[in-house]
Amino acid sequence: MGTRSVALLLVILPASLSAQVRDQREFYRERCAACHGVEGSGRGSNGARLGGGAILDLRRMTREEEAALVATILRGRGAMPGFGRQLTEPEARRLVSEVLRPMATHKKR
Ligand code: HEC
Repeated sequence: MGTRSVALLLVILPASLSAQVRDQREFYRERCAACHGVEGSGRGSNGARLGGGAILDLRRMTREEEAALVATILRGRGAMPGFGRQLTEPEARRLVSEVLRPMATHKKR
């Protein structure tokens, strides 16, 4: 790879990364917010009916717990449907780290 293509990559990469983050947020708003609320409060229009479904306090989430959340998102649990058909595992992981985690951190208590 020449210097020029490396430079080109450096220009393209950050742009496509932030596009992916946007996509995950959009996916959350479209598929998750009805139950979990836009801010993860569990106060979406279906949230109360489904017994809360509040996204927990993720601030001190360990790697194992993060993996468990990814599994919940892909396979579903209780009243929550699985999203394994719409999301790949890396996408579900990004959803946790880039959408759920910041949401939990910014949550007012
Ligand atoms: C139909 C309503 C519904 C939708 C849609 C939904 N969830 Fe859930 N979710 C729930 C409920 C109810 C629970 C609690 C499940 C249980 O423990 O029985 C839950 C649990 C979770 C948990 C686990 C929280 C914990 O304490 O371990 C995570 C993470 C989660 N949902 C993320 C998501 C994401 C991300 C999406 C979108 C891709 C989503 N949910 C879509 C209802 C929903």
